[in-house]
Amino acid sequence: MKEKEIKQVVRAKYAQIAKQDQESCCPSCGCGASSLLSSKAVGYSGEDLERIPEESVMGLGCGSPTAIADLKTGEVVLDLGSGAGVDVFLAANKVGPTGRVIGIDMTEEMVDRATRIARDHGYHNVEFRLGEIERLPVEDDSVDAIISNCVINLSPDKAKVFQEAYRTLKPGGRLTVSDIVSEGTLPDEIRSDSNAWACCIGGALEQQEYLDKIRKAGFRDVQVLSSKEFYIESEECQALTKLLSITVRAYKIRKL
Ligand SMILES: C[S@@+](CC[C@H](N)C(=O)[O-])C[C@H]1O[C@@H](n2cnc3c(N)ncnc32)[C@H](O)[C@@H]1O
Repeated sequence: MKEKEIKQVVRAKYAQIAKQDQESCCPSCGCGASSLLSSKAVGYSGEDLERIPEESVMGLGCGSPTAIADLKTGEVVLDLGSGAGVDVFLAANKVGPTGRVIGIDMTEEMVDRATRIARDHGYHNVEFRLGEIERLPVEDDSVDAIISNCVINLSPDKAKVFQEAYRTLKPGGRLTVSDIVSEGTLPDEIRSDSNAWACCIGGALEQQEYLDKIRKAGFRDVQVLSSKEFYIESEECQALTKLLSITVRAYKIRKL
């Protein structure tokens, strides 16, 4: 599939989800379960979720990067593919009024939803920007921490996403991402299915390739902090394909 086509399909899917015309189709987040239950299943704490607006919790994540990003008071945080803002609001509670959290999403309906929630609930330390994670509308060396939850698999140019993350982080800054990767290469039948791509499966890279792209962007100390496997059925191979929901941490080198 071409880059433009992928973006169109992904945008259309998440615009529908933002308007609640469609439910999440992410296979790792417990299809059919409520957004709250599926969020808890991927690692969010009930206590943390109670402290953020309910409308931001849409059950679209595959991990809980804010829980392990070690966010501190006063830090500037960037969330790649922020959706309705669940991780932005969690991070905002952690960095406090002296900190700031910026969410980036390419789907206007998601940015509108998240912005409205922030306004209705009086969050002054958050901002949602419409943009693509391959071309971040964010200054060089300007954020302390980047988080992302189940988004980078949707990008047709993952190398560019990691290069952009590296560019925008301050020296010594950290990247904590939860995402879907595969064990072995995915069958063509899945890779070329636009719906599978929009549902966080078709664009999943083989785990080693994913980690190599992070290293190639310049990151150091790349570490898989958690990994949970699940399976999908593939007709072509008449077999189950193994996917992993992983959370990775990596650091931008400090200037000498
Ligand atoms: C599976 S949802 C996850 C949303 C959010 N991180 C969460 O956990 O609730 C993926 C989100 O990423 C956004 N997205 C996908 N590809 C993107 C890209 N290339 N640039 C910016 N946003 C993107 C979609 O619009 C959607 O809101």
